[in-house]
Amino acid sequence: MMNNYEKAKEILKKYHQEKLLYFYDELNENEKEILIKQILSLNFEKIISLYQNSYILKKYEEYTGEITPIEHYEKQLLTEEEKEKYEKIGEKAISKNQVAVVTMAGGQGSRLGFKGPKGTYELKMDGRSISLYEILCNDLKRVNEKYGITLNWYIMTSSENHMATKKYLQEHSFFGYPKSNIKFFIQENLPLIKVDGSLFLQEPYLIKEASNGNGDVFKSLQRYGFLDEMKKNKIKYISFGGIDNILLKNVDPLFIGMMANKKKEIASKTIFKKDPLEKVAVYCKKNGRPAVLDYEDITAELSVKKFKDGKYCYRDANMVSHLMTLDAVKKAARIDLPYHRAYKKNAFVNEEGMKEVPDGPNTFKFENFIFDSFYHFKDMLLLRVNEDEEFAPIKSFNGPYTPETAIEKYKKLNYWFLSQNMVT
Ligand code: UD1
Repeated sequence: MMNNYEKAKEILKKYHQEKLLYFYDELNENEKEILIKQILSLNFEKIISLYQNSYILKKYEEYTGEITPIEHYEKQLLTEEEKEKYEKIGEKAISKNQVAVVTMAGGQGSRLGFKGPKGTYELKMDGRSISLYEILCNDLKRVNEKYGITLNWYIMTSSENHMATKKYLQEHSFFGYPKSNIKFFIQENLPLIKVDGSLFLQEPYLIKEASNGNGDVFKSLQRYGFLDEMKKNKIKYISFGGIDNILLKNVDPLFIGMMANKKKEIASKTIFKKDPLEKVAVYCKKNGRPAVLDYEDITAELSVKKFKDGKYCYRDANMVSHLMTLDAVKKAARIDLPYHRAYKKNAFVNEEGMKEVPDGPNTFKFENFIFDSFYHFKDMLLLRVNEDEEFAPIKSFNGPYTPETAIEKYKKLNYWFLSQNMVT
């Protein structure tokens, strides 16, 4: 019978990845075990075929098709009457605790160059520090207080940041959020792959893996049994958001009520893309179905295309604020979403056993995107909101979305004052 080492060797040979055992003889027993276990658990078939197919992606239906504009509503054009009507419907659902919140926090946050999980990044203001998680907790606590409920809050982490995220929140007593209503779940990983098609080591005993994109959220919720749990708890709507937008309204009665009233299964908030050529993902219809064009997929020609009235056709940018019915999420969990290939810079252990940091991108990362699920629905609701009121993400230290620009918007809305006065 083959032992685990022999089995691992066999697998590596099949996929031409024998180099991963280059340092094996120099490892201690514990490290040897870690590496062999990892090799036996990895899905080589999947990553190698993603790598090979990524050169012929255009074959996939999801990547091609007729692109047309999609209808949207603008929050500022709604009448007071309409707003009131929607808010009432939304508030009713919230009061009955029919809304669950999912925070997608499994990303690497590499652009920020911050070592810990992005949500633990602290903004400094007026002599006080406040982390993205504290801001998020405060937002949800305000909803709880207002409606006399405790929202069920699901946090998606990745194997890379799970322990650190949990430890951070535990050390801060979950910022006063009822612990039993917070559920963590860890999304799946995929190995990164060098441009030449080889997997690589991040340590002599560890193959480099990373989270496989926020589109994994549906399958991961399902895998943890959380969709069944939500059904048992009579959850009707699930709000999905990212970790880095400090103005995100996780539970917005108007948005929930509007989706319910318009009988849609999915909805997204958008912001107006100011510069038509800006590199952001925009909403559209593909083959008559709702879709999002990632900035790499939208051509300059489409970006500047106008309607007869002079308005641009594709100006609704994605701000990672999505709402779905529980049934829609269940459906999305059954779909195998397409993978997007990103070209990224990653350090690796070279043949001398030294960590080498390349000058530029050297590896491919494959990711599922949450918005690719929308293509599998007939239609959706888009609500364009005011960027100054709802979108202040922290992306990097330069460019339009820095900690400073976020703080400025946050202060303007007086949220800083509210945060400082929250009881934790
Ligand atoms: C994201 C959007 C982009 C939008 C921009 C606006 C996606 C795929 N992209 O881009 O269309 O214009 O925000 O702010 O939605 N995440 C995970 N697991 C992962 C990867 C990411 O949970 O494997 C989470 C991140 O932690 C973050 C959110 O998803 O909270 C968005 O991911 P991020 O990598 O920040 O996306 P952007 O490139 O900023």
